[in-house]
Amino acid sequence: MTRKRMSPRAGHILPSEITSERDYFDKPSPIARRDVLKTLGGGMLASLAAGSVTPATAATERTAKIAGVKPSSRYRLDDVNSWEDITTYNNFYEFGLDKSDPARNAGRMKVKPWSVEVTGEADKTGVFTLEDILRPHPLEERIYRFRCVEAWSRVVPWVGIPLADVLKRFDPNSRAKYVEFTTLMDPMQMPGQRRAVLDWPYVEGLRIDEAMHPLALLVVGVYGHWLPNQNGAPLRLIVPWKYGFKSVKSIVRIRFTARQPRTSWNLAASNEYGFYANVNPAVDHPRWSQAKERRIGQSFLAPRVDTLAFNGYADEVSSLYRGMDLRRFY
Ligand code: MTE
Repeated sequence: MTRKRMSPRAGHILPSEITSERDYFDKPSPIARRDVLKTLGGGMLASLAAGSVTPATAATERTAKIAGVKPSSRYRLDDVNSWEDITTYNNFYEFGLDKSDPARNAGRMKVKPWSVEVTGEADKTGVFTLEDILRPHPLEERIYRFRCVEAWSRVVPWVGIPLADVLKRFDPNSRAKYVEFTTLMDPMQMPGQRRAVLDWPYVEGLRIDEAMHPLALLVVGVYGHWLPNQNGAPLRLIVPWKYGFKSVKSIVRIRFTARQPRTSWNLAASNEYGFYANVNPAVDHPRWSQAKERRIGQSFLAPRVDTLAFNGYADEVSSLYRGMDLRRFY
């Protein structure tokens, strides 16, 4: 995502598009990849040389395992993407604009100790340690589809807590119509914040009924391990029926508010990134279609798959938007 140019770059290929996931991860030697590369044209190789693709050897270390995670019986899916798919191809502009930058640069972010300030229209506000926030809640693994506004998608086994369970503990009052979430602001640790790509810090928001919906998840882990920094450690949001940019990372502030918050991508380009940002194959981005998506981890020859309304969660969430014109509130 950039303000000027968000469309997938011509000649831009993903590691997972070059070699099938199985070849890529089961065979550490990049033979299959090399074979495929031989068949690619010079343009693609030039883009590899220019560093727009994660090197074949890219791998990220597993973080520590989380004890006592309970798999959800309801949110299970086949076709889960690999750890590498999920942790080497990221959007986290605080660490750079290339998909491989966060895995390379986010290691420097200090995520312990971590605290979250809760402010605004609630009875119990203040600064809470991450441990305080997590302590009462069982951690659950939920496998969700994830759809980026850039028209790629994957299937991710998140570990987290229903957002509503956490928010209710702060006793939001009747004026709390929205919830705003803010990412850490620290240009020393987050070099991307030294560039005026967005109006930092990164801010996102939900209507309170969206935030209280049982699908909205406050996430601390992936694949049974604590979140790697590039995926938004130590605490991030996942709203699976919305485009990925709503799923704000490394949260340090939660604010209950009477008015719709001003959110980062909406401020940067309101005609391209709405406040609602519900996945909707019927409403194109001004510069590309949203009807189909490219599954990360599949061969680059694989056909794009149809994007589903609300990313496949329409049965559960469409009632939130009854009577709303989803072309206007995009
Ligand atoms: N949160 C912050 N703070 N900064 C970001 O750049 N990018 C968003 C979202 N949350 C972003 C962010 C976008 S565009 C996407 S698609 C998802 O994070 C990517 O999450 P992932 O890297 O875990 O797949």
